This record gives sequence, structure tokens and C-alpha cells, in this order.
Amino acid sequence: MTILAIESSCDETSAAVSVNGKIQSNVVATQLIHEQYGGVVPELASRVHQQRIVPVVERALSQANIQKNALNAVAFTRGPGLLGSLLVGTSFAKAFALALDIPLIEVHHMQAHVLAHFIDEHHFPKFPFLCLTVSGGHTQIMLVRDYLDMEIIGQTQDDAVGEAFDKTAKLLNLPYPGGPLIDRYAQQGNPLAFPFPEVEMPGLDFSFSGIKTAFLYFLQKQTRANPDFIAQNLPDICASIQRTLIKILLTKLRKAARQTGIREIALAGGVSANSGLRARLTEMGQEEGWNVYIPKFEYCTDNAAMIAMAAHFKYLKGEFTSQEVSPMPRWSI
Ligand code: KG4
Ligand code: ZN
Repeated sequence: MTILAIESSCDETSAAVSVNGKIQSNVVATQLIHEQYGGVVPELASRVHQQRIVPVVERALSQANIQKNALNAVAFTRGPGLLGSLLVGTSFAKAFALALDIPLIEVHHMQAHVLAHFIDEHHFPKFPFLCLTVSGGHTQIMLVRDYLDMEIIGQTQDDAVGEAFDKTAKLLNLPYPGGPLIDRYAQQGNPLAFPFPEVEMPGLDFSFSGIKTAFLYFLQKQTRANPDFIAQNLPDICASIQRTLIKILLTKLRKAARQTGIREIALAGGVSANSGLRARLTEMGQEEGWNVYIPKFEYCTDNAAMIAMAAHFKYLKGEFTSQEVSPMPRWSI
């Protein structure tokens, strides 16, 4: 079974090919144009997807050494994401499937982030497991009962943690996306240098808007006293804010694990590339007696390999999509 998968929900144009659930190629073209605007500009994103989608798909097919007529299905991210961006991938996949007369498979982007764990044939979580899914648009704890059976048991009530990383980075005058830069500076800083308040949320939910505001006031106060405060303390500031964000995430994850009694714990989504989060989760896993699963870096941020993996499980269940399909910018799991 050979599947071509396409991901275009935000600012990565990606295509992957899988054969019997094994990834043969995964081409990711990241749009750097948004850096100068301090965030993703939806109109620009969809235009760049349009320019890139054909060469990206061609490269994925040639790297996998697969001819178009060997494909058994075409998969695409139906949502959630930016409407214009999703439209490019969806329209392309529909046209491709129609021309080749093969089935279409729609994929939920957040489900795919979780299923990225099954790309590694040797090390993957056993059901049921908990997955902390952290990206630029989502922050959720998922209870995963089966490949396509997931329930959100906790989620953010305001900003996503990736957004919190990116917005705090912006306040530090770092370019977009700031998450990876905060991570890099944090590696040389003292995480206990500056304490930031943590907002208490009921149950397993999260909130990150309070910490963003607290951070803004903190910076205003410090730079009033010392205009060079940011330049002089960047590693310590990054390490401290990162420590606070990680603590909020992992405190809730530990609560969810204790409440459910589940010890198979996975991490997914773009923010799982964060080195501090990976290290602290590994440590917590040892303290709590968990089996911890962290995807390879290349499968943390948006990629089509995870879409191909999700499509593989859908294909096995015969879950296909009609040509009438349209994107779902907002789509609950
Ligand atoms: O999953 P993803 O690629 O796209 C969405 O679906 O949102 O996640 C992107 C998010 C951005 O907010 C980015 O800043 C964050 O993941 N991110 C990181 C790191 N790498 C990516 N945040 C913190 N540390 C990193 N190393
Ligand atoms: Zn994502």
C-alpha cells in the first residue's frame, strides 16, 4: 500500500510517501518569509504553498523512487489550520486523486502529531497512553485508546504554549518563530534567575495568557530601570521563562498520569522539539516510573510523514473521503 501525504496547514509545505506504513521520503519546505512580519501572514502562506506544492510533491516521489501510477491513495491535512493554507493542500490532493482515480484520505493534523510516534517501528507507546501535544496552535493532554480513538482530557483555555514561547520571544525582540531561539539561549542561562508566577487552573486545563502579561510587565519594569536589561540578561531571561512554561506543562501531565494510572507517556507537536522539555520529561519519567516516548526532531514540527502515518491507519480501516470534501480550519478531535 503506497500513500502520498500532503501537509499544508500552516507555514510548512510538506509531502511524504509511505509504503505499508514505512516512511520512504519526507520533504519539508519551511516558509521563511514570515520571519520579517513577526508571525505567519495567512495570505502570504497560501501563496507560498501554491508555489511550492508541485516541486515538494515531485521531490517526495523521486526520493522514494515511486512513480505516480504506483500510488494507492492520496492523504492530506483537512484541518485544523489556516483556511487558505489548507485549501492549497486539499485542492491539490483532490485533483491528484481524481486524475489517478485513487482514494482520498483526510487527516486531522493533531491526530497526526500523536501518530508520528508510530513512524519508529521499534519504540512506540502501548495503548492506552497519554500524549502531551504542544504546538503553536494547541496545548492538550490526550488519552489515546487506539490509533484513531483519542480524547482530549485537558487543554489550554487561552494561548497555546508555542504561542507563549513565540510571544515572549517577540517581546525580547527575537525573530519569528521565537520558540527555538528561546530554547537555544536558555541552554546558557540560569532557569532560577527570575521567578514568574504560574496561574492555577482547575482540573487538567492550562492557561498561558497570564504569564505572557506578567512577562510583559516584568520586562517593562526592568528596562525602565536599565535600558540594556534584555541584552545583558538574555540567556537567564530565556532559561527562566522556559522553565516556567515547562513546569506548567509537566505539572498537569503528572496530575493526568496519576489520575488515570497510565504510565505510557508521549510528547508530540512542534514544542516537543524543546530541549528543556525533552530533558525534564525524561527526568520526570524516571521519578514517576513512566515509559516516555519523544519523537525524533524531524517529526516534532509539522511534516507530512505524520500525515502518511495517520493515513496508513485510516486506509486499513477503509476510512476514505469523498471529492466533496472541504477544509476544516477549526476541527475538534
Ligand atoms: O507543530 P508546529 O510545527 O506547528 C503548529 O501546528 O503549530 O509547532 C510550531 C510551534 C511554534 O510555536 C514554535 O515556536 C514551536 O513550535 N517550537 C519550539 C521549538 N521548536 C519549535 N518551541 C520551543 N522550543 C523549541 N525548540
Ligand atoms: Zn502542528
